[in-house]
Amino acid sequence: MRLVSANDYQQLSQLAADFILEKVKQAEKLTLGLATGSTPIGTYQLIIEDYQHNKTSYSHVTTFNLDEYVGIKPTDPNSYHYFMEQKLFKHLPITSEQIHIPNGLAVDLEEECRLYESRIKAHEGIDLQLLGIGSNGHIGFNEPGTTVNSRTHIVNLTEETRRSNARFFEALSEVPTQAITMGLGTIMDSKEILLLVSGKSKSKALFDLLEKKPDPSLPASILDSHPNVTIIADQDALQYVK
Ligand code: GLP
Repeated sequence: MRLVSANDYQQLSQLAADFILEKVKQAEKLTLGLATGSTPIGTYQLIIEDYQHNKTSYSHVTTFNLDEYVGIKPTDPNSYHYFMEQKLFKHLPITSEQIHIPNGLAVDLEEECRLYESRIKAHEGIDLQLLGIGSNGHIGFNEPGTTVNSRTHIVNLTEETRRSNARFFEALSEVPTQAITMGLGTIMDSKEILLLVSGKSKSKALFDLLEKKPDPSLPASILDSHPNVTIIADQDALQYVK
């Protein structure tokens, strides 16, 4: 794993946007794995600004999001569909056919998971997967204890994750209890991974990821065995790392 140290969130966002845009501009065909959460918002904003200045083409780009809550509509401001639309997609020349996000309202959720996997396969896998990290070390919604070869599946969210994500909802009781997420095996099949870590609340998880042996209690630690991972972290997140 390569660690890139950023001074602050702004620089982290700039480095991440440059990293992604280089691939977008160079590749003839690109399958991008995307993430939600507050961490990538600055990166997405800079990608939008690049488009406004340079009219970068996205006609060769396909996207797959990591996860979505079960039981909330795509038009619900707390859905990851809505997040992606507002924070990125509506500002880029990208059509709905190019975008994939798990359908948390599917009648048959197991079938939706299988379909999601087959769609990724049909695009010959993910070239670059962008990741954030939960304070308990989750990636996507793969909570501690998730098996290393898991594929896209339905998860019961932990209380810690529901509590940290409750800031976006009116009340904790409104935070969904389940989500669909790419599995750790799905994420590990990506050809390249870019993990963004920002803020003191992630510093313990980042320290464990960098300094301890891989352990299922820290799902992100599986990244240690991936051949092509770049971590961009800001100084707050790096507070325990020497
Ligand atoms: C959610 C998402 C994760 C994300 C995490 C951290 O749980 N499912 O993909 O990495 O939040 O979010 P934030 O960047 O807001 O700290």
